[in-house]
Amino acid sequence: MKKRILTGDRPTSRLHIGHYVGSLQNRVKLQSDYETFIIIADIQALTTHFKEPDMLKKNVYEVALDNLAVGINPEISTLFIQSMIPQIAELTIYFSMFTTVNMLKHNPTIKAEASQYGYTDLNYGFLGYPVSQAADITFCRADLVPVGEDQLPHIELTRKLVRRFNDLYKPILIEPEALLSSCSRLVGLDGNSKMSKSLKNSIYLADTEEEVKSKIKGAVTDSNRVTIRDKGNPDICTVFSYHRVFNENESYNIYEMCKNAGIGCAACKKNLSKALNETLAPIRERRSYYENNIKRVKDILYFGSEKVRRAADETLDEVKDAVGIKYFK
Ligand code: TRP
Repeated sequence: MKKRILTGDRPTSRLHIGHYVGSLQNRVKLQSDYETFIIIADIQALTTHFKEPDMLKKNVYEVALDNLAVGINPEISTLFIQSMIPQIAELTIYFSMFTTVNMLKHNPTIKAEASQYGYTDLNYGFLGYPVSQAADITFCRADLVPVGEDQLPHIELTRKLVRRFNDLYKPILIEPEALLSSCSRLVGLDGNSKMSKSLKNSIYLADTEEEVKSKIKGAVTDSNRVTIRDKGNPDICTVFSYHRVFNENESYNIYEMCKNAGIGCAACKKNLSKALNETLAPIRERRSYYENNIKRVKDILYFGSEKVRRAADETLDEVKDAVGIKYFK
């Protein structure tokens, strides 16, 4: 029996190259060795975007397309939509009985997001979404969760809740492990923070060649390097940090040239655009295949969700039995 992976994304925007190196690449690599489940977490997205359901609906498809575009193979991996699995909400309720408000209030990712969105008084759904994420992971008995590092507190909580559940009732749930990508998080084009839609500092997987070129043209570099004759410091340069990831072969040379004023920022950026566009070319091609076959994408999501719902039904049956609230066989 293959071990299982569960991972996924919120459909609040198209996915960007930060998602790609942080998680998507790993998913694609692992899908042949693990039974892979990919959740499009529309309910989790509602916790922050409940006023924009239309935007989320559109992005459910965009996120599915992005996953398929990077090489998720729908013949072997299962893509599904969170809201189509009501058992996740049910399991969330059972977990919530022994999750304390303090455990959630001190979660560093919750704190960071609350401050990013400017929340002072936290909504119940938002504060509690890590519990629902624990249900996402456990209802399908995932062993491994490939994620970016901002998700670690949620995996930690999941492990705690599983131990508590198994201890209180019956050891039927699996304690999952996080799998971090070997590539650290990509900074945004503005050099600050991470890539995020609201900061408008992202390169999307679906961006055209021209968009990529023009975004990289505008990316910040070493601000102490004013003219082409000044020596640069690649260690603090956003553009260089992308070279390291998307232009591995040339990055050593570029590093040395930058430090010795042997290459200017404009040429260095051109070079990066070329490398990045080469990475993105096959992704764009697969995306456009699926965009032209949107019925196929709908079927993938519909039948994927149906299959997952049947599995969820079985888990919840066992969960209720373990908790001791199953009244009729
Ligand atoms: N919280 C994740 C994010 O913001 C999305 C997500 C929802 C997820 N459920 C999950 C990730 C389960 C891994 C496992 O990107």
